[in-house]
Order: sequence, then C-alpha cells, then structure tokens
Amino acid sequence: MQLAVFVSGNGSNLQCIIDAIETERLTDTEIKLVVADRDCFAKERALKHKIPFFQFDRKTNWQQLVIDQLQQHQITHIVLAGFLSILPKQFCEIWSNKIINLHPALLPKHGGKGMYGLKVHQAVIDNKEAESGATVHFVTEGIDEGNILLQEKCAVEATDTAETLQQKIHHLEHQILIKAIQLFHEKK
Ligand code: GRF
Repeated sequence: MQLAVFVSGNGSNLQCIIDAIETERLTDTEIKLVVADRDCFAKERALKHKIPFFQFDRKTNWQQLVIDQLQQHQITHIVLAGFLSILPKQFCEIWSNKIINLHPALLPKHGGKGMYGLKVHQAVIDNKEAESGATVHFVTEGIDEGNILLQEKCAVEATDTAETLQQKIHHLEHQILIKAIQLFHEKK
C-alpha cells in the first residue's frame, strides 16, 4: 500500500503508523506523503522521518491541488488520522473504499459535523454513556457515515471528564489504528 496520511494536529497517530512500519508490524506499507491542512506538529514528525510533506491552505480551493499531489505520489490508500477538514466527495470517488478515518467514539453515536476533539467526549459524558471507544471507518460523502472497519470499547467511569476520556481513548486509537491498517491492507 502506498499511503497518504492526512493530519491537522499533534500527529501521535501518524507516529504510531511510522513506528509500526519501522518495526515491521506493518509490512508492504509505505507512507508516501503526509498532508496537512494547517501548521501542526505532525509536520515535524514527517520531516524527521524524511517523509514528503504537503501543506495546503484550507481557506482556498484546495481539492485539485491535493489530488494532484496524491496522484504524483501514486497514492493507493488514504488514512485520515486526526484530520479536521471535510474531504470533498471527489476524493471518495477516486479512492473509493480506499480511505479510512479514525474517530474517537463509538460510531454511529457521537459523530457528524462539528463532532471533533473534546466536544465528542463531552457529548458522551452529557449523554451518560456507560462506554465509549474508538472507531475506524471507511470514508464516504457523509461525515462519519461509512461502514465500520474496526471498533474498540472502553468503560466510561463516573469520575471521567471529557479530558480523561480523551486521554483514555487516544491510547485506544493508537492500538486500533494499526490493526485497522492491517485489515485495510488485507482488503486491498
Ligand atoms: C484523535 O483523537 C482522532 O480521533 C481525532 O483527532 C485526534 C488526533 O490526534 N480525529 P493526533 O493528532 O493523532 O495525536
């Protein structure tokens, strides 16, 4: 698989993929490009590992620019790992069933437009859910609506806050993402 990983923030999930490739827990997989929609620490991670990095301005019409980059790098699969922009539908047409996204809750609950970061975990707490978790799903035109590839649960304790839940789930994400990429690879 020739992967592109899309990021917007710290990039700890990107780092997990890099580490899994370097330690051969992920084989036959290469990150050919990291794409970011803003300045972010994930850039440092990509550069440190000599992975080509492309940043676009999300206030512009970026679609074709990014598609050109992906095609130049012969990208076969895309992983959205903490990417906060909405992917235009043309991406889903060109890379149909070849794009996955990581979401920090148990979809189909607590997803959709505006559900990112602490808002997701606050919604879980406000709803008095007994459990939450992480989901990796295929990306389609609808936000957080594609088929689920993998999901892992954790308990929500009475003492949990949005912040503690976020930490707990972040840890879960790091594990589930690697397993999901392995499954993604098997389906290729
Ligand atoms: C993760 O919680 C992911 O689910 C969400 O954004 C966060 C990214 O974390 N979409 P990081 O940038 O990989 O550390």
